[in-house]
Amino acid sequence: MDHDFDAPAGDKPPASTGGVGGLRGLPEWHALENHFHVVEKLTLRALFDADPNRGTELAAEGAGLYLDYSKNRITRETMRLLLDLARARGIESRRDAMFRGERINVTEDRPVLHVALRAPEDMRIAVDGADVVPEVHAALAHMADFAEKIRTGAWRGYTGKRIRAVVNIGIGGSYLGPEMAYQALRPFADPDIAVRFIANIDGEAFATAVAGLNAEETLFIVCSKTFTTQETMMNARTARRWCVAALGNDAAVAAHFVAVSTNVAEVARFGIDAAHMFVFWDWVGGRYSLGSAVGLSLMIAIGPQQFMQLLIGFRDMDDHFRSAPLARNLPVLMAMIGIWYNNFFGLETQAILPYAHGLMRLPAYLEQLQMESNGKHVDLAGRPLSYQTGPIIWGEPGVDAQHSFYQLLHQGTKIVPCDLIGFLRPVVDVAGHHDILTANLFAQAEALAFGRSPEALAADGVPDGQISYRVCVGNRPSTIILGERLDPRTLGALIALYEHSVFTQGVVWDIDSFDQWGVELGKVLARRIIAELQNQEAGEAHDSSTRALIRRYLAARTRAH
Ligand code: F6P
Repeated sequence: MDHDFDAPAGDKPPASTGGVGGLRGLPEWHALENHFHVVEKLTLRALFDADPNRGTELAAEGAGLYLDYSKNRITRETMRLLLDLARARGIESRRDAMFRGERINVTEDRPVLHVALRAPEDMRIAVDGADVVPEVHAALAHMADFAEKIRTGAWRGYTGKRIRAVVNIGIGGSYLGPEMAYQALRPFADPDIAVRFIANIDGEAFATAVAGLNAEETLFIVCSKTFTTQETMMNARTARRWCVAALGNDAAVAAHFVAVSTNVAEVARFGIDAAHMFVFWDWVGGRYSLGSAVGLSLMIAIGPQQFMQLLIGFRDMDDHFRSAPLARNLPVLMAMIGIWYNNFFGLETQAILPYAHGLMRLPAYLEQLQMESNGKHVDLAGRPLSYQTGPIIWGEPGVDAQHSFYQLLHQGTKIVPCDLIGFLRPVVDVAGHHDILTANLFAQAEALAFGRSPEALAADGVPDGQISYRVCVGNRPSTIILGERLDPRTLGALIALYEHSVFTQGVVWDIDSFDQWGVELGKVLARRIIAELQNQEAGEAHDSSTRALIRRYLAARTRAH
């Protein structure tokens, strides 16, 4: 149940949206609060026993994905009430406003149009009266032309050799999407082109990424929406030095560096020719940008045709989100079930558990997508909120995690709703493996939901003294997402499923899911401390802890020299 909590004091008057007229004042909200007291006492075991069709009827399909949400602590009435709440918050009109290109990112006064990145050529989406779809397709054609040149060897390095390694330098949304998708789609990638990523400012990240690479055969993609991000620009400058040192001439940069950005001026200042810049637009949020030029490294790896399949998968889910009735709308169903746990059960976290080795980076990708989007403490009008917003997202690939933290999921004192993601067919078929992988996914959902009772343990001959340790109480919720196989189109649909689910939750919570002001303070403070480390003097403005840490660091550096 959502309770008042100490909302941080903002600059604006503290007029919470929790009261009358706000989310918590809605009759639909009150109906859910009352309903919660009934549902919290129900068990999944009893719900399944009472309703033989539950497992097939609390399920929906769209864009090639099957969503089984029957193992959640809900009834059909819960879903009806949750969808009433979504309607009361205007989900359909807000969704349509996004697709129309309205400036729904209010704090940055921008449209939110990642959906335009995958719009078909004959669709019209206007920003300030100008159709952006032709620009999107021109940018895709620019990327495809370049990707093919790299893949065929038509593009040559400074000394005339073909490119064998592509290194994407970028962080956050300029890294997590391409890396996640590259890992997921490795079976579709050209094995003769190594693709690596540098995000962290730790020098080891750079050193590891270029280890064993020949500068003559290496292409760097400097990927940054703003082209001012400190970590990315420093790594890019280091890469340029590495390249010039190896190739002996500044002129080599032109053949070994391209840029992906919205900032033409900064790209030029870095010394990358406008012809080697791949554009996107300020109406694409970093964490929503995989379908833009930010996906260039991925396109080089898997080829333009497979990249188009990825975009088609995104589009499949966009179409589904726009057209499916709410009761069968996958992103809306997922979002509202998430709100049920977050705001009524008061659960704090949600686990992402893909049963696919290729999706090893999906949890990290979804951490940014969901937490940077919905980790907000004020509403659209800037008023502090009196209810919880985005949950903590975390996870690991399924089978690996079964041998680490699943113990807590099954027997810990916390309840963690889990998304279990799997595929009907393998892309890489190694005899027998896929059956065992998928059996584990199904078994875990079953174990979470139904547990193992003392009676069942006794019947299995477990001695009395052992029973309490072994009991799994069950009643732990999970949602199962099944795709046909982990190919580009399915991956696109899966990502868009989460994008639109995040959007839906943001609408219900009345927050701006497309800004990220919270990350700014740390950047400002880091700049101040960097200057102090360079001047070898901890500033007086810091607290005693920070000052002591800086001094300790400076002393260690002096000792090392
Ligand atoms: O600091 C957070 C952030 O702004 C993210 O939102 C973004 O994805 C990342 O930094 C990288 O930004 P850029 O693409 O401008 O380098």
